[in-house]
Amino acid sequence: MRATKGYKPPGVVLAPSGWLRLARAAESARAFAYAPYSDYAVGAAILTTRGVVAGCNVENAAYPLCICAEAAATTAAVAQGRTRWRAIAVATAGPEPGAPCGACRQILAEFATPALPVGLVVGGQVVRKVTLEDLLPYAFSGRMLRRG
Ligand code: THU
Repeated sequence: MRATKGYKPPGVVLAPSGWLRLARAAESARAFAYAPYSDYAVGAAILTTRGVVAGCNVENAAYPLCICAEAAATTAAVAQGRTRWRAIAVATAGPEPGAPCGACRQILAEFATPALPVGLVVGGQVVRKVTLEDLLPYAFSGRMLRRG
């Protein structure tokens, strides 16, 4: 357990007010999505131990260069030195909430523990809560690169 003031281990259940705040941050970022090709706007908001960092998807005319909202939020958080995370919310259009794509699950796993709560947001409300481990069981990690 870290002794840092205010630090809560990842995986703690967020209070409803915390989820609402995070859902709103994800929706706000979603409003800035640049998605002229898919018309599928996504916003992601990561609750770190030092506040919320958000990102949106940024598409490109060269389609494979599209950046997902979760990847954008991750790089923004890392660039601000905010690598300890408590939860993430991902906002998409409904009715079926959009879950992070496979690549983004791996990107999140680099910085999050398997217990990271992931809230899927539609219309400003968290409509499904899962953990990163639910989305990416048996994740590949840097630990595995070390030879025994
Ligand atoms: N997208 C995300 O931003 N996150 C995901 O996890 C899935 C997909 C974006 C990429 C692209 O801009 C659009 O959604 C359609 O795939």
